[in-house]
Amino acid sequence: MVRGIYAGSFDPVTFGHLDIIVRASRVVEELVVGVLNNRAKSPLFSVEERVKMLEEVTKEYPNVKIRSFTGLLVEFAKECEARVIVRGLRAITDFDYELQMAQTNRIMNPDLDTIFLTTSLEYAYLSSTTVKEVAGFGGDISAFVPPFVEKKIQERMEVLPEG
Ligand code: PNS
Repeated sequence: MVRGIYAGSFDPVTFGHLDIIVRASRVVEELVVGVLNNRAKSPLFSVEERVKMLEEVTKEYPNVKIRSFTGLLVEFAKECEARVIVRGLRAITDFDYELQMAQTNRIMNPDLDTIFLTTSLEYAYLSSTTVKEVAGFGGDISAFVPPFVEKKIQERMEVLPEG
């Protein structure tokens, strides 16, 4: 059984992430979506909230599992008995960082390969950071995130102080 890992911060999950999740779930037999619990960053959503949102938006895909992790991705992949890491490539600007990460991960675990899916063109511009920026100024984010996530972002923005 080929199990894949699609890891990220997912703060929050966007249509761009979902596009990669759905397409990757057709390539591997099981896809584990790994939500990085990075205490150094200060995310908009807690790791539990990010896991919950991912569970909600992927509930119709039975071979997609959502889990959180801390530490190295290669260690988490080993724990999950995953064979491949899946990454999405939006544009050439992603390439340097992605190549560096894939090479480093392969040095740490030569049995683990990284495969890249090119993001669908309609999401090539999209990032969680821009979604938060637009939402922070009260803009419409319905083209960027599923309705469940949109609601959670709006609720969070209402309680955040401006600035
Ligand atoms: O949200 P992102 O930036 O797409 O996710 C990046 C992520 C979580 C895949 C990456 O930062 C990661 O794997 N972090 C875990 C720590 C690790 O293994 N670092 C070494 C990679 S070179």
